[in-house]
Amino acid sequence: NAPLLPLGNGRSIPQIGLGTWPLDDAEVAPVIVTAIEAGYRHLDTAVKYGNEAGVGRGIRDSGIARGELFVTTKLNGVYMGDDKAIAGLDESLTRLGLDYVDLLLIHWPVPQRGLFVSTWKTFEKLVASGKSRSIGVSNFKPAHLDRLLAETDIVPAVNQIELNPYVTRAEQRAYNAMHGIVTESWSPLGQGTELLSEPLLGFLAEKYEKTPAQIVLRWHIELGLVAIPKSKTPERIRQNIDVFDFTLDPTDVEALAALDQGPDAGVDSDVIGH
Ligand code: A2P
Repeated sequence: NAPLLPLGNGRSIPQIGLGTWPLDDAEVAPVIVTAIEAGYRHLDTAVKYGNEAGVGRGIRDSGIARGELFVTTKLNGVYMGDDKAIAGLDESLTRLGLDYVDLLLIHWPVPQRGLFVSTWKTFEKLVASGKSRSIGVSNFKPAHLDRLLAETDIVPAVNQIELNPYVTRAEQRAYNAMHGIVTESWSPLGQGTELLSEPLLGFLAEKYEKTPAQIVLRWHIELGLVAIPKSKTPERIRQNIDVFDFTLDPTDVEALAALDQGPDAGVDSDVIGH
């Protein structure tokens, strides 16, 4: 099992979760079972992924008690504004076969539509109704969060952003930390592309006798982040949560952060997302 990280609202979140994009309903169910058997207690889905029903089936197939799990889903643009999130979450809960989620996120700020503040006020009602234990955001920049902090009551429990050694988002991490918002890393492995073949990762994998993916995930842990690596491969699913029996030297944490590709790396959520 992954250790729990405290959230600002007194609850807590397992520091490693299973990412499920882009698995479909049929693919994801057995992956969920494998992950729960491997010790995962945190599952991350979204309406937009189109796999909530499969995630729910996997949960039931695993036989685990609901209270053992931390389940996140996300509402995207069509659920923003006009209390649309109320029906949106009900639909997600029906697909998942659950009566609450642990964490509900606004998937993207879509700032040009000007709806994320009103959507957040609806999310606050969903906490009051008990249908989501905690609420948070995804892909929010400091300017977006500034507005929520100024105009609404509940501080987001988490901000889930693209984050890995190529896209380190130091400024956003510092902002989240200053406001008691836990930072969650999506695509923590850089979507399994060139990042895992970096010579530095080969070197560190040998030094610590771990795989490159385990080194990257441990880097997230050292930075106090929550990471949600996606894998559909049983051996990798097991490997990705087996990162709690070693630590990285601070100089190696810094060396990995130095792989950052600059402020323009990664998605720009002012222009992408829906
Ligand atoms: P697969 O699902 O085929 O196992 P991210 O979470 O950063 O988006 O990365 C997901 C990608 O990384 C997937 O393509 C996944 O492949 C791959 N991946 C996940 N875990 C590992 C691992 N331990 N070693 C190598 N590749 C991995």
